[in-house]
Amino acid sequence: MSLHGRDLVSIRDLSRDEVLSVLDSARKMVPLAEGSRSSDALRGRIVAMAFFEPSTRTRLSFESAVQRLGGRCLTIADAGATSMRKGESLYDTIRMLSSYADAIVIRHPNEGAARLAARASERPVINAGDGAGQHPTQTLLDLATIQEAFGTLTGLKIVLLGDLKYGRTVHSLAYALAEFGSEVILTAPPGLRLPEDHREELRRLGARLSEQSDLRKAVREADVLYVTRIQKERFSDEDEYHAVAGSYRVDAALLEDAKPRMIVMHPLPRAGEIAPDVDGTKHAAYFRQSFLAVPVRMALLTAILGAARRGN
Ligand code: CP
Repeated sequence: MSLHGRDLVSIRDLSRDEVLSVLDSARKMVPLAEGSRSSDALRGRIVAMAFFEPSTRTRLSFESAVQRLGGRCLTIADAGATSMRKGESLYDTIRMLSSYADAIVIRHPNEGAARLAARASERPVINAGDGAGQHPTQTLLDLATIQEAFGTLTGLKIVLLGDLKYGRTVHSLAYALAEFGSEVILTAPPGLRLPEDHREELRRLGARLSEQSDLRKAVREADVLYVTRIQKERFSDEDEYHAVAGSYRVDAALLEDAKPRMIVMHPLPRAGEIAPDVDGTKHAAYFRQSFLAVPVRMALLTAILGAARRGN
């Protein structure tokens, strides 16, 4: 089925074949993302970036993707500078924005905000992270990174380490890994385990899911060690945050027993959970992962918007 004109709110909005098609297209777009080839596939198209929560990678890689394909962006990077400050609702803001742009990319602190935006918008909406909900485009670039490293998304052992309670990147990625038949090993501090509703749903979908509280053992087993930051901004109780802050850290010494091809991933930003001495090891894949955001988002935007017609 074509992605043309569709919303992307949850990774589960995409079939396995649709994910593979985006990844295939993204591989071909790497030279465009590097700037060594040019394209005007989005010439004449405007994509709105509606960011109501801080972002470096997601917003700027989307903007890079649009601009490298000849399109333009309208950007809200500070909700305080919009009429929401005067009381305008998110629904009205998005409804209006959809008459100014051909697609809307939204990030919002509230889970469910992207679904609401999709209802409000007359144009396709892409979820760039909604609270502790989903981050489906991050999952696409995560899968691209894994596929590039191993040539497959199937039969791997992926350790998800960190804040599995509030981390939206892992909430999306776990479903995709289950869909592709890789094993998911959960390693989280007490209090930050993957919520039971996600576990139940993943098991219902046939996911191979296990837990490993010993980080050294998890690292020895892993093909991919996917590290996440503790999502400080989601805690309502500061004591709850301080009880888990700094409770895990990946450094070069920890990786000495890792499989030779094991890769360390992180959606970034990191906040101390990966030591800088990992950066120079053969395992570090997180900066490549952040680069792949551009070709993956190029591929997705092109599929949703369709390539520009010549002579428009
Ligand atoms: N990975 C990610 O979502 O990063 P930003 O918060 O910087 O967009």
